[in-house]
Amino acid sequence: TMSEPTVVHANSRDPSFADWMRGVQAQLEAALARNLPPGEAIPGRLHQAMRYASLDGGKRVRPLLVFAAGDLTDAARERLELAASAVELIHSYSLVHDDLPCMDDDVLRRGRPTCHVEYDEATALLVGDSLQSLAFELLAREDFGDGARQLEMVRLLARASGSCGMAGGQSIDLESVGKTLNQPELELMHALKTGALIRAAVILGALCGKPLSTTEREALDRFAKRVGLLFQVVDDILDCTASTATLGKTAGKDAAAEKPTYVSLLGLERARELAADLRAQALQALNLFGERSQRLVELTDFITRRKF
Ligand code: IPE
Ligand code: IPE
Ligand code: MG
Ligand code: MG
Ligand code: MG
Repeated sequence: TMSEPTVVHANSRDPSFADWMRGVQAQLEAALARNLPPGEAIPGRLHQAMRYASLDGGKRVRPLLVFAAGDLTDAARERLELAASAVELIHSYSLVHDDLPCMDDDVLRRGRPTCHVEYDEATALLVGDSLQSLAFELLAREDFGDGARQLEMVRLLARASGSCGMAGGQSIDLESVGKTLNQPELELMHALKTGALIRAAVILGALCGKPLSTTEREALDRFAKRVGLLFQVVDDILDCTASTATLGKTAGKDAAAEKPTYVSLLGLERARELAADLRAQALQALNLFGERSQRLVELTDFITRRKF
């Protein structure tokens, strides 16, 4: 049938991971397409560029984490959709700015010209600004139906994206070019530039449903931190092992730009071992959730084994 249950549970009758993933990706795509201003709305060029930068591309890992974490608290799909859209809009904004000439100076993203190449730099700057604003507008929407909860979620996403989160990590990334960081320094940079938003995605998903106990919340946050770091360790590995065609972004950029990465610090072999350790630690933190964490377990493996 076409109708979907309001409450999402992972159990043995649920679709395979691949089907579940496609379902969430499709729901997210539709939600973004609906909530982004139409390309015809004035100013058309900015709105077209916003849609270009956020629609029809990306793995949607953060929205998948939002939905998977929602399984732990019986969260309603409608709420998960808003939270997932908000996190993905922040992520898309971060990529548009990350690719600018003043940052990583990349011309290829998600298999297409980067936003500033397809449009222009000023437009790309405004796309980032506008996607960020739209993210918070969605999270604050009236039909979410729980103002106190929304306030907590807005605060959490704001912290995760600002100078003590993603933007702060990007700042450390830029000032670290050509330097050798030690492992704690590198871990902090990665925890902020990528980990913070991944961690927020997990917590936001859980916050869409019934409250967790303190023990559960702490375990989930431990999971979220490990998976966030794991994600960027794998990104570092892929940058120097995968092809541009597979990645949909220019391969080998980190070494060329003299960025400190887990591969430059530890070498490929030990970076892979670290990824395996982080995966194991992440999965261990999920133990107390039992079957309800099935999708989070599967996503952790997807993040570890992904090829792009
Ligand atoms: C790439 O993120 C940038 C990082 C934070 C490492 P993703 O690998 O999630 O990019 P998309 O959204 O799938 O394109
Ligand atoms: C990007 O890290 C992190 C953010 C966008 C916040 P990278 O610079 O390694 O991401 P890619 O490799 O360009 O996707
Ligand atoms: Mg970067
Ligand atoms: Mg980059
Ligand atoms: Mg990278």
